Amino acid sequence: MSKSFEKYIPFVPLKRPSRRWPDQEIKAAPIWCSVDLRDGNQALVDPMNLREKLEYFHTLVDIGVKEIEIGFPSASETEFEICRELIDGGHIPDDVTIQVLVQARPHLIQRTFEAIQGAKHVILHFYNSTSALQRKVVFHMDREGITKIAVDAAKLIYELSQPVIAGGMDLRFEYSPESFMGTEMDYAVEICQAVLDNLHATPEKKVILNLPTTVENCMPNYFADEIEYFIEKLPGRDCAIISLHPHNDRGCGVATAEMGLLAGAERIEATLFGNGERTGNVDIVTLALNMHTQGVDPQLDLSHINDIREMYERCTKMKVGERQPYAGSLVFTAFSGSHQDAINKGTQYMADSGSDKWEIPYLPIDPADVGRQYEPIIRINSQSGKGGAAFVMQHSFGFELPKSMHPEFGHIVQVETDRVGTELQPQRVYELFHDNYIDATAPYQLVRHSFAEFTDEGGHSHVTFAGTLRHKDTVFQVQGSGNGPIDAFFNAIHGQKMDRFTFVDYKEHAIKRGSDSQAVAYIHLQDQNRRDWFGVGMSHNINLAPLKGILSAVNRWYNATHSGE
Ligand code: KIV
Ligand code: ZN
Repeated sequence: MSKSFEKYIPFVPLKRPSRRWPDQEIKAAPIWCSVDLRDGNQALVDPMNLREKLEYFHTLVDIGVKEIEIGFPSASETEFEICRELIDGGHIPDDVTIQVLVQARPHLIQRTFEAIQGAKHVILHFYNSTSALQRKVVFHMDREGITKIAVDAAKLIYELSQPVIAGGMDLRFEYSPESFMGTEMDYAVEICQAVLDNLHATPEKKVILNLPTTVENCMPNYFADEIEYFIEKLPGRDCAIISLHPHNDRGCGVATAEMGLLAGAERIEATLFGNGERTGNVDIVTLALNMHTQGVDPQLDLSHINDIREMYERCTKMKVGERQPYAGSLVFTAFSGSHQDAINKGTQYMADSGSDKWEIPYLPIDPADVGRQYEPIIRINSQSGKGGAAFVMQHSFGFELPKSMHPEFGHIVQVETDRVGTELQPQRVYELFHDNYIDATAPYQLVRHSFAEFTDEGGHSHVTFAGTLRHKDTVFQVQGSGNGPIDAFFNAIHGQKMDRFTFVDYKEHAIKRGSDSQAVAYIHLQDQNRRDWFGVGMSHNINLAPLKGILSAVNRWYNATHSGE
């Protein structure tokens, strides 16, 4: 057996028995910063062109993101020009701050100042790598040398910023100790404090300290311990905004961000659908909608998730997975029968109770909140149950099958899924319903009929039915009276061969397709062996629909029990 795991150095967590973050709650949205156009873009096979970046930028603005990292303008001419177009082209609303990234290197810092000229609100984001591993294998420097890089950059940025700020730009600073998660915490505090000092941070002019899991290397609870420790030990805490920048190497980016917020972070850098280097940055959509489903306003408008997803896929040429939280094509779909039943019951419960709270099992969010109310929530395959087929009939076609009928129709649909071995589209479910119930029009047929109705002095209704029925080649007349059309019809067929049923139940409702409204009646009969027979009739005439339903049930019984004839 391979022992390849033995070469890894496990993460050493802080010992923090005094941790407080597990008892906290997320009660408000953090400051959101999108890094789609920088971290996301740099991880694309084909980075976005100007047109795509502009479209993406405007989508982020529409969503309500107020801080947007637009790129790394000193890195290439293309990046520089995109920054200039955003500023000169008047694309940046007054309430949006653009953020530009730069390494802690003097000539790049100078170039970045050139790139941002004329912008109203800017965050200048600089970074250098601080982890023990990077110091050892990449920079061959001790802590002092790494701190000097950060401090020198902070000094230069402060110096260059003074005339720009005096000229009217709202210019703020952000520092990232890149690879923070692999940095000794006492050293992370030390270098960040040195940066705060050299940027002259004050409680009025806070500096953003952005603490990334550049590579996610530990469980989210260990990371939260680090954040809590960092915040507790940072002397200039009130001069800083604590920001997180989680990546997703262990698949825990969302949990890292959420636990980091519990530990005291105030800002999150993230991307739509988690695009970014390797396994990506943390997904802003999941984070925001997780808050939404806990009754917290995320301060982002994700009510048109399909449009956002379409723009994202077109501009990045990446795909949003079918199971991606909230946005995946399958996440509002239930295949399993028991899930379908529970969703059905939840929907019914909400309608009956008039509750304004979302209480539907298996659906953590109302699909309508993200603009997905028109998708089929329930899809039918061999795993589906009795409620699923009824749900499709109701939601796609408006037929409200009585509960007692669900098992029988569910079975019909299941036999078909087993036969074809694939998912059934709603249209096929409808055809099965039509074929089995509404088209059960032989051998008994109603050729013609009439009703006479009067109400006596006591307010009681009396209905007389007279009609001509056909059974195969035999035509016969029947007549009967009762307190309603169904009763009259049953009395009329009394003594006929088809008179062997007990009437159990019936349900009728209107069904509207375009301008056409019809009555649909569901009939439940029982034969002499106490076996249930269901029938469905449809007609523009509400008196005729149940009669057709009765004949549908009788015909279904006849065809099932006389197949040898
Ligand atoms: O992941 C990272 O550490 C970064 C920094 C530049 C913030 O993207
Ligand atoms: Zn990153």
